[in-house]
Amino acid sequence: MALDRFGRSIHYLRISLTDHCNLRCVYCMPEEMTFRPNKELMQDDEVLLFVRLFAQLGFDKIRLTGGEPTVRVNVVELVRSIASTPGVRSLTMTTNGVLLSRMAHPLAEAGLQRVNISIDTLNPEKFRRLTRWGSVEDVWDGIHAAEDAGLTPLKLNSVIVGGYNESDAVDLVRLTLDHPWQVRFIEMMPFAGATDLQLKRVVTARDIMACIESSLGALQPVNGGNLDGEARLYRLPGAQGDVGFISSVTKPFCATCTRARLTADGRLRLCLLREGEVDLLTPLRAGASIAELRQILLDGIWDKPWGHGLAEGLIPLNRVMSEIGG
Ligand code: 5AD
Ligand code: SF4
Repeated sequence: MALDRFGRSIHYLRISLTDHCNLRCVYCMPEEMTFRPNKELMQDDEVLLFVRLFAQLGFDKIRLTGGEPTVRVNVVELVRSIASTPGVRSLTMTTNGVLLSRMAHPLAEAGLQRVNISIDTLNPEKFRRLTRWGSVEDVWDGIHAAEDAGLTPLKLNSVIVGGYNESDAVDLVRLTLDHPWQVRFIEMMPFAGATDLQLKRVVTARDIMACIESSLGALQPVNGGNLDGEARLYRLPGAQGDVGFISSVTKPFCATCTRARLTADGRLRLCLLREGEVDLLTPLRAGASIAELRQILLDGIWDKPWGHGLAEGLIPLNRVMSEIGG
C-alpha cells in the first residue's frame, strides 16, 4: 500500500495518455496551443510498465485522461492491456466525447468500464465558442454511444465560465429528470495557459446552485449533502439522475484525496494544483531498475503535499491543464 506522510492511502491513478486534444476549450488552453512531440510522451510499453508498478503498490483504480485520451493512437489496445493488469479493479476514462460515437463500443469491449464526458452547454453556438470549434452534436452522439455500449453510470462534467455558459447549467440539470446521469459542475481552476480568463470568470459552486434552484426549485441532498468522492450530490424531486458540485476552489477535498497523477510525459504529479513533480520517465529511459523506480515512486507519494494553495494565491503555472489531465 502506498501511504503519504499524512496517513492517506494513495491508490487512485490518473494517467494523461496525451497532451493533444481535438478541441481548444477557452478555460483549458490557448488557441495557438503547441503540443509535445510524440517521442516525449510515454510510449505504450512505458505506460504499461508504470501501470504494473502502480498496481503492485496497491493502486486499484485507474482513470485515463488527456488532453483527449481518445486521440491517442492505439488507445483501444492500451485499454485492453491495462484492464487485464492484475490489481486493476476500476478502469475509466474522462473524455470530451467527440470521438465516442465510433470508439465507445471498441473501448467497452476492450475492458473500459465507465466514462465521464465533458459537456459545458447544450447550445451549439455557445459550445462552439467555449471549445473554439467543437460541435455539440458530436458529443451528444458520443453520450448515446457510451450509454449503448454500457459505459455506465454516465457522468457529465461541466465547467461554468462567467459570460459564456452560466445560464446553461439549468438545461444541463434538466437532463437528470429523464436520464440516470450524474451531471457535475466543476469549479474552474486556475492554471498556466488561460490564467486570466480562469481567474476573472470563475463562478462558484454556490452561485451555480443558486441559479439552478431559482429556475428549477430546491435541490435535495443525496448522502445528507456529504461528499461522494469529490462531489456533493443533490437531486431534483422525482429525477432519475443526480447533480454534483465539485468545489475544488471554494471547498477543497484535499483531506480525503487518494490520487496521484501521471503526466503524458511520465512525471508523477502528486497534486493537480501544486507544481511539484517527480520524473519517472527519464530514469526509466536511463535504465533504472524496477526496484529503483518503485523507490522513486514511493518516496514521491510519501511527500504528496497536504493540499493546494489557491487560498494563499498559489497558482500552478508550470503546465496547462491538458498536460496533467484534470
Ligand atoms: N478548471 C476546471 N476544470 C477544468 N477542466 C479543464 N480545464 C479546467 C479548469 N481550468 C475539466 C474539463 C474536463 C476535466 C478533465 O477537467 O472540462 O471535464
Ligand atoms: Fe481538450 Fe478537455 Fe482541454 Fe477541452 S478541456 S481543450 S476537451 S483537454
